[in-house]
Amino acid sequence: MRSRRWEWCLAMELLLLPLLLLATNIQGQSTREVIVLSGSNLSLQISESLPDNYKQLTWFYTIHQKIVEWDSGKSKYFDSKFKGRVMLDPQSGALNIYKVQKEDSSTYLMRVSNATGKEQEWKILLEVFDPVPKPVIKIEKTEEANNICYLKLLCVIPDQSVNCTWYGDSGPFSKECQSSVLELRVPEPQNYSKFYTCQVSNPVSSKNDTVYFTPPCTLARSSGVDWIASWLVVMVPTILGLLLT
Ligand SMILES: *[C@@H]1O[C@H](CO)[C@@H](O)[C@H](O)[C@H]1NC(C)=O
Ligand SMILES: *[C@@H]1O[C@H](CO)[C@@H](O)[C@H](O)[C@H]1NC(C)=O
Ligand SMILES: *[C@@H]1O[C@H](CO)[C@@H](O)[C@H](O)[C@H]1NC(C)=O
Ligand SMILES: *[C@@H]1O[C@H](CO)[C@@H](O)[C@H](O)[C@H]1NC(C)=O
Ligand SMILES: *[C@@H]1O[C@H](CO)[C@@H](O)[C@H](O)[C@H]1NC(C)=O
Repeated sequence: MRSRRWEWCLAMELLLLPLLLLATNIQGQSTREVIVLSGSNLSLQISESLPDNYKQLTWFYTIHQKIVEWDSGKSKYFDSKFKGRVMLDPQSGALNIYKVQKEDSSTYLMRVSNATGKEQEWKILLEVFDPVPKPVIKIEKTEEANNICYLKLLCVIPDQSVNCTWYGDSGPFSKECQSSVLELRVPEPQNYSKFYTCQVSNPVSSKNDTVYFTPPCTLARSSGVDWIASWLVVMVPTILGLLLT
C-alpha cells in the first residue's frame, strides 16, 4: 500500500515537472502586462537592460505591423496609426506612446539583434481602458405590505463591459449585479441600510450612484441633509427677496 502511494507520488511529480518547466519558459519569455487609462502617455519598456551595442531594434504592434525600427543610429517610423504619437528612446529601447487609445490594446513585440546578429524578442501585453460611464440607479418599485418593504432597484449602465457591485451601509452585497437589478425585502425597520449604492468599475476607474432609504419604505435620490441644503439654497434668497421688497 505504502509503496503504491509512493509510486503515485512519483507519477504526479513526473506529470507536474513539464508543467513547471512550461511556466518558467513563459516567464523566461517575459511577457509583461501593462494596464492604463485611455488618453494617458506611457512608456513601454522591458525590465531588463538591452544587449550592449545592439545592431537593430524593432517595435511591432502586431506581428505584421511594425511601428518603428532603429538601425545604424537612425529611427524609421512606419506608416501606422501610431505615426506622430510614438517616440523611440534608443538608449533604453522604450517606446513612448502619447494619448494611448483603447484600440492600441495589443501584444507588442520588441525584437533586438545583438552585435553578432542573434535576435531576441520581448512581449508586452498592453490593455487600455476608457473611464467607466456613470451608472444611474432607477427606482423600479417600493412597496409596503404587512410591514415588509419590498424594493426593486435597477442600476442602469450604458456600457455592459464593466463590473458592477451593490453596496449598503454594511458593505457590499454578496450577490453580483449581473443583471444590475437589486431586489430586497426589508423585513424589520431596524435592519435596513441607510443607502444603496451601485458601483461600476474596470481595472482603471470606478463610478457610483446612490439612493437613500427612509423607513418604513421610502427611497430618495438624495439624503435628507442634502435635501435641507438645497431647500435652504432656494428658500434663503426667496425670503431675503421678500424682506427686501
Ligand atoms: C502627454 O504628453 C503631452 C506632450 O508632452 C502633454 O502635453 C500632455 O499633457 C500629457 N498628457 C498627460 C495625460 O500626461
Ligand atoms: C548575442 O546573443 C547570443 C544569444 O543570445 C549570445 O550567445 C551572444 O553572446 C550575444 N553576443 C553579443 C555580442 O552580445
Ligand atoms: C436583516 O436581519 C436578518 C436577521 O437578523 C438577517 O438575516 C439579514 O441578513 C439582515 N438583512 C440585512 C440586509 O442586513
Ligand atoms: C470584473 O471582475 C473580474 C473578477 O474580479 C475580473 O477578472 C474582470 O477583469 C473584471 N472586468 C472588468 C471589465 O473590470
Ligand atoms: C462613490 O463615489 C465617491 C466619489 O464620487 C467616492 O467617494 C465613494 O467612496 C464611492 N463609493 C463607493 C461605495 O464606491
